Amino acid sequence: MVKKKTIKDFMRMKKEGEQVAWVTAYDYPMASFAEQAGMDMILVGDSLGMVVLGYSGTNPVTMEDCISHCQAVRRGAPNTFIVGDMPFMSYQKSDEDAVANAGRFIKEAGVDCIKLEGGMRVASRIKAITDAGIMVMGHIGLTPQSTGQLGGFKAQGRDVNSARNLIRDALAIQEAGAQMLLIEAVPPEVTGFIAKKLEIPVYSIGAGSCDGQLLICSDMLGLFQAFTPKFVKKYANLSQIIINAFKEYISEVKSGVFPADEHMYHIQEPEEEFERMFKEFK
Ligand code: KIV
Repeated sequence: MVKKKTIKDFMRMKKEGEQVAWVTAYDYPMASFAEQAGMDMILVGDSLGMVVLGYSGTNPVTMEDCISHCQAVRRGAPNTFIVGDMPFMSYQKSDEDAVANAGRFIKEAGVDCIKLEGGMRVASRIKAITDAGIMVMGHIGLTPQSTGQLGGFKAQGRDVNSARNLIRDALAIQEAGAQMLLIEAVPPEVTGFIAKKLEIPVYSIGAGSCDGQLLICSDMLGLFQAFTPKFVKKYANLSQIIINAFKEYISEVKSGVFPADEHMYHIQEPEEEFERMFKEFK
């Protein structure tokens, strides 16, 4: 059985230069595969809105969606560190709201840490949640919940001003008490600088190397067909494997090849007895 990692392990890994590998998962089977493969941690991202629920963005995702998917992931990966992603408007209104909703992730879904998007502007939320004894991961760079303000799914920190703001955000997040930071779609020079400057572990999704890498499982496995971000490496093309399997099944059902004898339950009494019983209904 794998031993669940804790923040102490992640701090040690940063210190020793050992990379953390993690993916998103949204349901029981994927979580179980991730744990069996030895993933260091799992994010139940609100990306579930796009890659599982079929929305064009993450903002329609609700607390109920997140809690229910986190519960399934926890059942599939009981021994893996799980990060639950706080959905849009579950923490934006007030510190009180943020603490109450973060608490639901811990109490109802058994996650180990919550993640929320934003830098300086969410510092008071991070402080309030950590003061309640809940571990927080910050998320800066391309923050999908504010793609309206960012002008779309666009890389951040590519000019000096924007990079300076990211560094200020990262420092504010650490200062507020967050124990980990995720940086999305930012040049490696900026990410590398932040990872060296911060004491807490800094992870990347599309932001070059630092203390570890995150990918969305549906992207890396070729399950999400709408688009593939530049930073994704596809390790499998499962959508094609699934479509081919479905096609073969359709063809075998229509031609009568499936089900074959080995897929059937057989009677346990002589056939004549069944014939006699069938006659009762004629
Ligand atoms: O929801 C998610 O999966 C995320 C990643 C894009 C970082 O927040």
